[in-house]
Amino acid sequence: MGGRVFLVFLAFCVWLTLPGAETQDSRGCARWCPQDSSCVNATACRCNPGFSSFSEIITTPMETCDDINECATLSKVSCGKFSDCWNTEGSYDCVCSPGYEPVSGAKTFKNESENTCQDVDECQQNPRLCKSYGTCVNTLGSYTCQCLPGFKLKPEDPKLCTDVDECSSGQHQCDSSTVCFNTVGSYSCRCRPGWKPRHGIPNNQKDTVCEDMTFSTWTPPPGVHSQTLSRFFDKVQDLGRDYKPGLANNTIQSILQALDELLEAPGDLETLPRLQQHCVASHLLDGLEDVLRGLSKNLSNGLLNFSYPAGTELSLEVQKQVDRSVTLRQNQAVMQLDWNQAQKSGDPGGGSRADCHHLHGAERLSAVPPPGGPHFSPV
Ligand SMILES: *[C@@H]1O[C@H](CO)[C@@H](O)[C@H](O)[C@H]1NC(C)=O
Ligand SMILES: *[C@@H]1O[C@H](CO)[C@@H](O)[C@H](O)[C@H]1NC(C)=O
Ligand SMILES: *[C@@H]1O[C@H](CO)[C@@H](O)[C@H](O)[C@H]1NC(C)=O
Ligand SMILES: *[C@@H]1O[C@H](CO)[C@@H](O)[C@H](O)[C@H]1NC(C)=O
Ligand SMILES: *[C@@H]1O[C@H](CO)[C@@H](O)[C@H](O)[C@H]1NC(C)=O
Repeated sequence: MGGRVFLVFLAFCVWLTLPGAETQDSRGCARWCPQDSSCVNATACRCNPGFSSFSEIITTPMETCDDINECATLSKVSCGKFSDCWNTEGSYDCVCSPGYEPVSGAKTFKNESENTCQDVDECQQNPRLCKSYGTCVNTLGSYTCQCLPGFKLKPEDPKLCTDVDECSSGQHQCDSSTVCFNTVGSYSCRCRPGWKPRHGIPNNQKDTVCEDMTFSTWTPPPGVHSQTLSRFFDKVQDLGRDYKPGLANNTIQSILQALDELLEAPGDLETLPRLQQHCVASHLLDGLEDVLRGLSKNLSNGLLNFSYPAGTELSLEVQKQVDRSVTLRQNQAVMQLDWNQAQKSGDPGGGSRADCHHLHGAERLSAVPPPGGPHFSPV
């Protein structure tokens, strides 16, 4: 029993003496120095380079050595231009900024004097950087893609130039007589259906201007020589040239006014033989019908009334789905034009026009409405 008690006491004594025996090594150096420090002598330690402690000399194991941030704004370290400072545990590295490369080849350096950072020409390094329709432009530290005209950078991918849809974005310069068609990198203006390019102007260009074919087919009846009539058709052609689809209402008004003036002052038409007068009247009504039908394509549904000093009145009723009808009155003579009938005859005006040179008697004249019909003598 006594032997056992002795053993326990011995072990206690050994444990008690351990710290004292281990505080310094054989060279007389403190063994308790905190992490990242080294001993000065048996009772003092000093932080390793790149670390700092509260006091320069550490005399208790409770103190710590903390990493110095050499990259902090107020530090002495300067990496120089086009470079970044990266703090590391106990040290730091200078590295070239993104988009710059060290000419020396050394990836890291410690001081401004060793800085060889130079802009990388990304465009030269990778000629296909800006995909199709773009031109690479090198900048300091980076590059940009400049799109060819008619293209724009994709917001999600600033390397990719995509087509600009000038038609839907409203950037086009198409005349209102045309319809805009987008193409890759550009657009073109094509005549509206039923329209043709104005004389000497090609279709499908940016500056294409078209005129309604409705007007071009309404020309003086062959075989009739009348200055009054020629002047009337000159006016009609001018109106056709200036016609804008949004202004169909005004154009109709102007045509009817011209017609009213013609009826009020028929001039040399009155000297024509009576049969030819009837033919001209028929020709005018036929042509007017075609033109009104063409113009009504751009009118909203509803009733339009026009009336003029010489007594010409027009009630134009546009009914898109049901039958279209137009009522033309002149001096109480009412003419009802059945537009559906006229449309079925196909080509507007083609063939249905009176040829006043080769009159076919009563057959032709039946186009002139009874009773009285349009004539050229104002009341
Ligand atoms: C140990 O070094 C410190 C700092 O240099 C000094 O102040 C101290 O006197 C030294 N102690 C001994 C025992 O040499
Ligand atoms: C860093 O470079 C500057 C000159 O750019 C020089 O004056 C300084 O002594 C250098 N410092 C070190 C630590 O090399
Ligand atoms: C058409 O023009 C006439 C006469 O200028 C006008 O009274 C009428 O309100 C116009 N209609 C439309 C739909 O613009
Ligand atoms: C008439 O033409 C104009 C111009 O092109 C267009 O904005 C408008 O919608 C057209 N109106 C109708 C009723 O077709
Ligand atoms: C247009 O004329 C018709 C027939 O003469 C008439 O019934 C209608 O009230 C007129 N409408 C307008 C808006 O003047």
